[in-house]
Order: sequence, then structure tokens, then C-alpha cells
Amino acid sequence: MSETDKKIIIAIDGYSSSGKSSMARALASAIGYRYVDSGAMYRAVTLWGLRHGLVIDGKVDEDAIVAALPEINIDFLPIAGEGQHTLLDGEDVEREIRSLRVSDNVSQVAVIPAVRHHLVELQQRFGDEKGIVMDGRDIGTTVFPQAEMKVFVDASAETRARRRFLELQEKGVESAYEDVLANVRQRDHIDTTRAESPLVKASDAVSLDNSEMTIAEQNKWLIDLYHRTLDALI
Ligand code: DC
Repeated sequence: MSETDKKIIIAIDGYSSSGKSSMARALASAIGYRYVDSGAMYRAVTLWGLRHGLVIDGKVDEDAIVAALPEINIDFLPIAGEGQHTLLDGEDVEREIRSLRVSDNVSQVAVIPAVRHHLVELQQRFGDEKGIVMDGRDIGTTVFPQAEMKVFVDASAETRARRRFLELQEKGVESAYEDVLANVRQRDHIDTTRAESPLVKASDAVSLDNSEMTIAEQNKWLIDLYHRTLDALI
């Protein structure tokens, strides 16, 4: 069997703003795999809750959100050269789900067990045909414990906040660096201490601290690992 015939599942987990989504998207595009941003799904549910008055200033009406899950329609639209845009009930919400308003509330929504179960099930369906790169917090531990390749990405909170701040500036979203840093720290805390599938490195994941790496270096590191993983399987 040649390398390209063998399709695998690639799980990339890590802290918020660790650059894992950019790495995952670049890898998927380089090897012709589908990319799925699982965080975007938690963000889409949060946006739905904000729009319907069920999420207000970090307070979540859990029962109402859980009851609404079957009618919250989340999908992805592939965009040439850009990866994909997130659709909420058919509307392109890619920009809105990245706003601080959503970022400030998303961990509180992602902590709800029934929300996690629902989204994990949807995420697992994307893996049915393999040939997928998915990034998130619990992909290598809960969504695809059987993934052939697992990466756990880390970088200091300051490095990650600086990256997020620049990203928001580029997108024209108003924000202050201190607010972004506070948001990163708060999300780290909630993500690592929640009872249901907390952010934790899978025992068989390969660690990557990319604080001192350029984007080109981390992309090369990832694609090298992909080739080594396939070589070991064939
Ligand atoms: O990767 P991100 O910043 O877009 O993720 C948004 C939030 O969703 C983050 O606070 C953690 C949560 N999340 C999660 O709990 N599990 C995932 N698989 C992906 C994201």
C-alpha cells in the first residue's frame, strides 16, 4: 500500500490560541485531508445561546440550551484557500464566533456535559471515513481515542494572548491586550479543571511547545510527524 492510500485520523489538542487550528488547517490542506475545528462548534452553540438570551455575561441557562440542541444546526462550508467557514442554521457566522463576546462565554457552555456529548457525537461522524484532521481539547482523549496520530500543543499564556490579540487586530475586532490575556487565562483554568473531559494530554500524544517556533517551522514539524506516523503503520 502506498503512503497516500492509507487514510488516518489526526487529533491536535492544546490550549486556546496555541496556534493549533492554523497548524491543523495547513496540514489538512497539504495532505488533502478534511479539516474540522471542533472549537468552532462550541462557539456556534454559544453564539446561538447569546442570540436567544440563554447566555448572558457568563451565566448560562443550561436546561434551555440542552433542550434546544437538536434544533441548533451546525455545518461547515469549505472556502477555497481559506479552509472552511462555520455555518449556524445556514448563516455564515465565522467572524462572529471569534468575537470576544463569544470567547468570554464559550468555556461556560463547553462545560455542560450534555452539550459535550451532543457535539462529540457529531464530531465522531466526521471521522467515519478517516482522512481527517480535527483540533480541539479532547480529540485525542474522548472524540478519537483510536486516532493514529495525536499532537498536544502548548505555549505560554503571554505568547498565546499576543497571537490572539494580533489575530483580532488583523480581523478589525477591537480589543485590549490585557483583556485578551485575562480571557486566555480564564479559559485555561476552566478548560483544565472541568469535570467532563478536561483538557489533558493523551498518554500517546506527542507534545509540541511552539512558543519559539515560526509558523513554517511548526508546519514542517507536523508534516514530518505525519510521514513518520504513516511509515510506522505501513
Ligand atoms: O479552540 P477554541 O478557542 O476555538 O475553543 C473554544 C472553546 O471551546 C474553548 O474554551 C474550549 C472549548 N472546546 C472544548 O471544550 N473542546 C473542544 N474539543 C474544543 C473546544
